[in-house]
Amino acid sequence: MVSNASINDSKDVTICSPKTDQDFLNYYQLRWEVLRKPWGQPKGSEKDSHESNFYHLMAEKSSEVVGVGCIRVLDNDVAQIRFMAVSPKHNKKGVGKMILKGLEEYAGRKKKARIKLYARETAVPFYLKSGYNIIGDGYTFFEVIKHKQMEKTL
Ligand SMILES: CC(C)(COP(=O)(O)OP(=O)(O)OC[C@H]1O[C@@H](n2cnc3c(N)ncnc32)[C@H](O)[C@@H]1OP(=O)(O)O)[C@@H](O)C(=O)NCCC(=O)NCCS
Repeated sequence: MVSNASINDSKDVTICSPKTDQDFLNYYQLRWEVLRKPWGQPKGSEKDSHESNFYHLMAEKSSEVVGVGCIRVLDNDVAQIRFMAVSPKHNKKGVGKMILKGLEEYAGRKKKARIKLYARETAVPFYLKSGYNIIGDGYTFFEVIKHKQMEKTL
């Protein structure tokens, strides 16, 4: 569990790392439902081949996983945030912000100076609110989901 009380200030929502097999099942289920299922992508498509190298956080409310996100440290002074997803019924309640803060704190503990990410254009305002800047265009996923490259200096 992330101990910093400041990221647990949204009522009844707890941020922690998935630990058990069931935690990871629930974690990937939400990632798939939010980031892959709407585009007809099969189960399994939500996973990267380097998952074990990522630091994962999930938000739980009443034992339900309502948000997920992860970060990986890269070779230089950079970390990359990936696969941020909040259950639609819990959007705009501060859950994404809590996960993002926990991932940024992890990057800080790893002495990283910058965080980069590829943001879906629809998520750009969310990242702008947390201090990320657009630094360029990103790729287009499934031929329709356009991304922006964003970065934040810690
Ligand atoms: C992007 C996402 C993770 C944001 O999670 P969330 O829990 O809804 O966001 P929060 O409630 O923590 O929002 C934090 C701030 O950003 C703002 N914000 C969030 N999404 C926004 C949006 N789409 N447009 C404008 N502002 C937005 C909130 O209003 C809030 O502002 P405040 O701090 O002034 O109150 C979530 O909408 C999501 O899962 N989207 C679908 C998947 C996706 O696009 N993932 C990102 C892949 S790059």
